Amino acid sequence: MRLVVLVSGTGTNLQALLDACADPAYGAEVVAVGADRDGIEGLARAELAGVPTFVCRVGDFADRGAWDRALAQAVTAHRPDLVVSAGFMKLVGPPLRSRVAMVNTHPALCPAFPGMHGAADALAYGVKVTGATLFVVDDGVDTGPIVAQVPVPVADDDTAESLHERIKVAERAMLVGSIGRMAREGWSLDGRRVRIG
Ligand code: GAR
Repeated sequence: MRLVVLVSGTGTNLQALLDACADPAYGAEVVAVGADRDGIEGLARAELAGVPTFVCRVGDFADRGAWDRALAQAVTAHRPDLVVSAGFMKLVGPPLRSRVAMVNTHPALCPAFPGMHGAADALAYGVKVTGATLFVVDDGVDTGPIVAQVPVPVADDDTAESLHERIKVAERAMLVGSIGRMAREGWSLDGRRVRIG
């Protein structure tokens, strides 16, 4: 399965996928990494792994629609079977999603705590268990059909940072496990229900 991974920051989820893909038995290959900004660790990780990269900055385009079309062009040039948004902090519009399936990983148990601050919002709400969700991207914000979820307990002395870091450990394992199964076993969508195999 050919993967294009989109990142905006540190790229530890990307790194987990790159490491998994080093084993041919994993069943997937990262064919390109895209970002919405320059100079981020995620792009450096891709370059170190010898994976082609591209950058599509919203500010370089006349409007969001033009950016969406350029992003779709840049991604589909690599002929992906699946696009993985792994810490990509932009909503992606129909030009890309109508052409290729896309999954996103989010640091909360959807549908709770959507948006940019999943871990901090869960901590502020006072939940005792949060986690991470892998879902198929749709028109909403973190509302798409759920591929996988993993629970993570909240500790009394957690900060938003410590909680997010603990979530990310579980998130990376969930992402690698789920993408590998999707690649090896295939997957389908039945309404909101995602079936692997
Ligand atoms: C991950 O926890 C991911 O779920 C989150 O950003 C982090 C990226 O970490 N994404 C969102 O919050 C999107 N709503 P990474 O750059 O180390 O992979």
